[in-house]
Formats: sequence, C-alpha cells, structure tokens
Amino acid sequence: MNKVRKLVKGDLEIIRKWRNSPQVNRYLFNRHEILSKEHLLWFDSVHNNPLRHLLVYEDNSHIKAFLQYEQLSEQTKTFEWGFYIAPEYHGEGLGFEFAKLMLSYAFDELKAEKVFGQVISLNLPSIKLHKKVGFKLEGRLRHHCFFDGNYQDLLFYGLLKTEWNKVRDSAVNNS
Ligand SMILES: CC(C)(COP(=O)(O)OP(=O)(O)OC[C@H]1O[C@@H](n2cnc3c(N)ncnc32)[C@H](O)[C@@H]1OP(=O)(O)O)[C@@H](O)C(=O)NCCC(=O)NCCS
Repeated sequence: MNKVRKLVKGDLEIIRKWRNSPQVNRYLFNRHEILSKEHLLWFDSVHNNPLRHLLVYEDNSHIKAFLQYEQLSEQTKTFEWGFYIAPEYHGEGLGFEFAKLMLSYAFDELKAEKVFGQVISLNLPSIKLHKKVGFKLEGRLRHHCFFDGNYQDLLFYGLLKTEWNKVRDSAVNNS
C-alpha cells in the first residue's frame, strides 16, 4: 500500500544519496554535490516554513521518492512541485502512481488551485509524466539552460484544480 507522509530528519541521508546520483542530478538546476552539512542546513531552514511542504512517497513502508511543494505566496494557492524517485525505481512506471498520489495531496489536503512544474527539455520521462497526469504546457524559455553540452529549453507546465478533477474522474471510471 502506498502513502504520502512528511519528510523527517531520519530520511535525509537516503534522499541526499538519491539527489547526488547521476540519474537524478543530471536533471536538476543545481548540480553540485550536496554534502551532509549543507543538506541539514537546507532542511533546518525550510521544514518549518508554512509555504513549504516536504513529502515522501512510501510503498509498503518503504520510502521510494521525495517531493517538495512550494506555495508561491500566502495570497495564491499555486504550488510549484519538484521531485525525484529513487534511481533504482526509474523507468518502471512508478512515476504515474507517485504523481497521482502527490496531486491528490496538493488538491485535497493543501487545497491547491494550481500545481506548477518546471522541466528541462531533455527530461523526456518528466515531460511524459506531466502530460500523462493532465498538465498543460504554459510556456517555453528557449535555450535557457546549458546541459550535457547543449542549450536546452525550460518548459513551464501547469495543472488547474478543474483539470485535475477531470483526470481523476476518468482514472476512477477506467479502473
Ligand atoms: C521523472 C521521474 C519522476 C519519472 O518517473 P519514472 O517512474 O522513472 O517514470 P515512468 O517509468 O513512469 O516513465 C514516464 C514516461 O517516460 C518514459 N520514459 C522513461 N524513460 C525514458 C527515457 N529514457 N526516454 C524517453 N522516455 C522515457 C516512459 O516510457 C513513460 O512513458 P509512458 O507513460 O508513455 O510509457 C523519474 O524518472 C525521476 O525521478 N527522474 C529524476 C529526477 C527528475 O527528473 N525529476 C523531475 C524534475 S522536473
């Protein structure tokens, strides 16, 4: 059985390991190796911030992914998400179940009006995942970043509550 729970200090080392792995690191803006001390400072600085929600995805009590929601301001219920799955589970279709559960959390628990995501154009698994759960492409900054020896576009994806409700209803009807 899968579930979402809050990130606790005891999870920090495993998620740091995932974040520093080449399979995750290659898709992130900040690509330097994160050391334990920096990681702890980051956790201490954000985990009590009411606009930040640090979450993990568990499957049968086994932690498999990390996700952060950042509410863009107190005045808006738009949340930007950023996430990674443990490298050993990439490419197995886990992303879809993970994203559906995390979106339910955003729209049901956090009462989000919109979820927003930024994706580098070389990240095909993430692009496919955003489309699969109903995100719409809202913008493209061309040649905005330089990755793997090439300029890449930065893509902006958005999912509104009304759109999510339709995706969820169709998923329920097809199950
Ligand atoms: C992005 C991520 C969450 C996707 O989760 P996942 O479980 O690996 O993805 P899935 O197995 O569900 O695959 C998603 C889609 O990408 C496709 N895909 C997987 N690897 C691919 C590759 N190397 N090239 C092209 N498509 C690929 C899958 O076939 C699937 O498409 P489908 O639904 O049409 O079959 C995960 O790979 C990850 O954590 N990546 C590193 C961190 C990251 O990129 N975070 C997001 C930043 S925006």
